[in-house]
Amino acid sequence: MSIQSKARILTSTQLSEAVTALLQGDVVGMPTETVYGLAGNVFDDSALLKIFHAKQRPLFDPLIVHIPISWNTPEILDQKLLIDLKKFTPNMTSIARALIEDFWPGPLTLIVPRSSHVSDLVTSGLDTVGLRMPQHTVAQALLKMCDIPLAAPSANRFGRISPTEAIHVQSEIGDKIPFIVDGGPCQIGVESTVARILDDEVIVLRLGKVTSDELKASLKIHNLSVPVNSGIGVIDQEIQARSPGMLASHYAPIKPLKIIDFSESPLHVSHQIESVISEFKSSNVGLLTCKQSDQTAFETCRKNSLIVEGHATLTKNGDGDEAAKNLFKSLRFLDEYRLDVIIAEKPKDHNGLWMAVSDRLFRASHK
Ligand code: TXA
Ligand code: MG
Repeated sequence: MSIQSKARILTSTQLSEAVTALLQGDVVGMPTETVYGLAGNVFDDSALLKIFHAKQRPLFDPLIVHIPISWNTPEILDQKLLIDLKKFTPNMTSIARALIEDFWPGPLTLIVPRSSHVSDLVTSGLDTVGLRMPQHTVAQALLKMCDIPLAAPSANRFGRISPTEAIHVQSEIGDKIPFIVDGGPCQIGVESTVARILDDEVIVLRLGKVTSDELKASLKIHNLSVPVNSGIGVIDQEIQARSPGMLASHYAPIKPLKIIDFSESPLHVSHQIESVISEFKSSNVGLLTCKQSDQTAFETCRKNSLIVEGHATLTKNGDGDEAAKNLFKSLRFLDEYRLDVIIAEKPKDHNGLWMAVSDRLFRASHK
């Protein structure tokens, strides 16, 4: 990936330059605890258009509004926040309030009914809007200094891997934006959980650090008996139309990616490897494995005459949080090698962030 750099990377002590740019209608790379975002003034349509342009993102894919913590003054509890949020959503239901109380600031985006004056560029003309209050101290410092919410999608070109370090933003869109604020490597590493709030149901549209079980537990504590359903895998046409960014073929490296379940029978695995070799007419692969302590995938590739040019592993011993944190960086690393295809070991674990990791790998494999 060539770096045609133009953006200046700012440290967290140089935020005033980023703030001036944002208030003048420019767009800026911003760290969050999940992935880096490309931020712009949510009330300025020309800034919003710059976001779509820099990302080459189609206008039908809506943006998430990032809310400053300063909107949530502890003295008056959530009351001030709820009034401020009315700029975006007319009524916060008790379900939304409960989830805000338990998970904000943090990696949970709520999809709620929109107020009429929210720009169609934010909502893509849908009747809902996505709201999130990020936890990252640098994101919050930036939001607080701007004192306005910032619209921010992940700071990658459309359909590509989300950036988890400032340098990734530079290589993705550095030639199109003036500044990237460096907040260090992202703690979580995959994007926020996206939950759609209906009157009688919560639908998880994107898997992330906040799990369905945690949402269920929170609602139960608040005495709200509403089901939390996963739209993942069973996404029907209505949900797809309502959340276009959930389509497959996202999070893709530039190289093709194939998932292989190395725990299947040796014969079956061999067949899968043969079909990769014949599809790409090459035995040179990059290999992404789940656990450093488990050499099965590596050995199986070697036994089947694959030449593993580049190898990355997501975890030492199988921790889901560690896997998420390393996922996009590892895919970027393998993408840099001269190879024809990346083979990813299918994760065996389903707990915690492994589900989100499997989901991103699945989408990356569907170009
Ligand atoms: O962790 C994150 O959420 C990061 C950081 C920067 O905050 N942002 C992020 O934004 O991942 P983006 O634009 O890459 O992904 C937002 C997803 C998209 O799939 C979009 O379709 C969906 O949220 N979304 C946004 N507004 C929506 C709405 N009103 N209804 C349904 N889906 C919506
Ligand atoms: Mg994205």
